[in-house]
Amino acid sequence: MTPIAKLRLGVNIDHVATLRNARGSVWPDPLRAALLAEASGADGITAHLREDRRHIRDADMDALRAGIGIPLNFECAATDEMAAIILRLKPHAVCLVPERREERTTEGGLDVAGDENRLAHYIAPLRDAGCRVSMFIGHAPRQIEASARIGAAVVELHTGHYSDLHAEGRLDEAEAELEALRQGAALAHSLGLEVHAGHGLTYDNVAPVAAIPQVVELNIGHFLIGEAVFVGLSAAIDEMRRRMDAARG
Ligand code: PXP
Repeated sequence: MTPIAKLRLGVNIDHVATLRNARGSVWPDPLRAALLAEASGADGITAHLREDRRHIRDADMDALRAGIGIPLNFECAATDEMAAIILRLKPHAVCLVPERREERTTEGGLDVAGDENRLAHYIAPLRDAGCRVSMFIGHAPRQIEASARIGAAVVELHTGHYSDLHAEGRLDEAEAELEALRQGAALAHSLGLEVHAGHGLTYDNVAPVAAIPQVVELNIGHFLIGEAVFVGLSAAIDEMRRRMDAARG
């Protein structure tokens, strides 16, 4: 099957803020990283405003919204506090994720099927404000179908489990997980949803995900920011893009 669209790269800059906050100072500046990512060919910037503000803070979101020229993807939990901030900033996109204070990163997908009514009401005003609303979910068909029913524009498929299996060398299981992601992407696309993917992607594991034809955007953060320590952010983005494009064929 020929790829149906160019694959976009969204760069998640949360961990620039993690590094800044480790020293309680103002360096490194997440906006500067976002502008450099933009200049290096990123198609969008993702930032996650967590309830505990452990990395990105409110002022970062304001600065990103005002400062970047590419789409801002505002990642957050579906809370009233976040809805108020989103309606004030009106970012291009909103990605809703589950959030637990004690987790190190977003560990699982959102249970859209189990919270369908509340989420349908939650996203309606965000959509009316012009935001493209995305659900960060696993590949289970019931989560994909529920996302379509509530009127989400996008689903972002969680690639964290695939990435973990790949990193542990459990390649048969990683392949099975990939196959489930492929089927999930095809189902989502058939229901009219735009399909994104992300979490845990690296140079070594990105190719098979980039090759899924219905996936039109990858959101990548931790690996790129880590790699930037060694080669710089621009070179890290270049190399990731090269691998994504090569896999896309
Ligand atoms: N997409 C979503 C919805 C996420 O929560 C994250 C992690 O913040 C990412 C993509 C990027 O994951 P990683 O930092 O592992 O590349």
